[in-house]
Amino acid sequence: MGIVTARFRSHAALAALLAAALLLAACGGGGGTPAGSGEGGGGDGSGGTIKVGLLMPLTGQISQFGKQTSNGAKLAFEQKGYQVGNYKIELVEEDDKNDETEAVQRVQKLITQDQVVAVIGSVSSRISIPISEVLEQAGVVHLTPTSTADNLTPGKKFVFRACFYDSFQGRVMAKFAREHLKANTAAILYDLKNPYSEGLYKSFEAAFKELGGQVVAVESYQTDDQDFHAQLTKIANAKPDVLFIPDYYDPVGLIAQQARQVGVQATMLGADGWDDTQLYELGGEAIIGNYFSNHYSTEQENPESKAFVEAYRQKYGEDPSALAALGYDAANLLMDAIQRVIDSGGDPTDAGQIRDALENTQGFKGVTGTIAFDENHNPVKPAVVLETTKDGHKYVTTVEPE
Ligand code: PHE
Repeated sequence: MGIVTARFRSHAALAALLAAALLLAACGGGGGTPAGSGEGGGGDGSGGTIKVGLLMPLTGQISQFGKQTSNGAKLAFEQKGYQVGNYKIELVEEDDKNDETEAVQRVQKLITQDQVVAVIGSVSSRISIPISEVLEQAGVVHLTPTSTADNLTPGKKFVFRACFYDSFQGRVMAKFAREHLKANTAAILYDLKNPYSEGLYKSFEAAFKELGGQVVAVESYQTDDQDFHAQLTKIANAKPDVLFIPDYYDPVGLIAQQARQVGVQATMLGADGWDDTQLYELGGEAIIGNYFSNHYSTEQENPESKAFVEAYRQKYGEDPSALAALGYDAANLLMDAIQRVIDSGGDPTDAGQIRDALENTQGFKGVTGTIAFDENHNPVKPAVVLETTKDGHKYVTTVEPE
């Protein structure tokens, strides 16, 4: 962006920065779009530059997810003119390839070379867990838009997420199965190598039993498996009312096809990993008439959501997925926190101050709900249940946290 970079971490540097900012403010900053909820000041970048990392799987498996999340985040920054108050936001984008080792290396580069104050990323919990440890250690803010694994945030001061977490999501689907579908029996097929899948399996199973249902079969596979016939045959024999498949759209498409081939008649249930149009290409007829929990629906009526859907369609020529919505919310959550640091006379280039502000987020109106964080930095907000129809996902109901 060709702007002078300010990386002030010490108190002396902070004092100098504040003096400079006051002087510039007194002189009257130039135009620009004020960001966030406050007044915004001059908005000409005269305060300095705040570097933010955006780490997504832009290639490799689930690159689709990475691009959508990144697009959502970029739309948010763009709408604010990449400015908060009189600070410029400089985005440094990296591709983690959905690979743990690559992701950790990219994050180390973002911390030491770019000196970012925050990293938005990654998509899957499998990647976000290892990078959260590196960022926590370095005292750099980690905000994942989409990683739902329960154990990602607890006990970490610098780690936050913009999405709900899997215990809640598994419970939503158990409740939906019992109350909406009147299911008495359930089977589960999950990926034992993926903490996202395993966490969902456990929370669904516990909630389904607690709500008086019976779990009649639990089967597993490993990431990249293609043949699920053996497990599905066992499941078919158990004749469950519902089959919970907590994984991403690509294995789910295959599983749905093979399930119907071996005679599984259960209604299939899933979670946010199902949210992609490719689910229909991969699952064909077999995937129609099933349900999954999600963070958001384009059919939602709140004003934030409507404005977002419109802006996203205009910029990218397609409907935003929940990932795009969460990327957008994550970027705005971060800018909102930065704005509040500026408003209170703090140093928005100090990751610790951004962390404190983020933790104190109150009533933030996001596309995916109104957000405040619980003690584990999880937003408390509802989930939606969507049906897979011939015309794509259709909104069925909203489930509030209890
Ligand atoms: N929740 C998934 C995880 O934690 C990632 C994901 C989010 C996938 C939203 C699809 C849609 O691994």
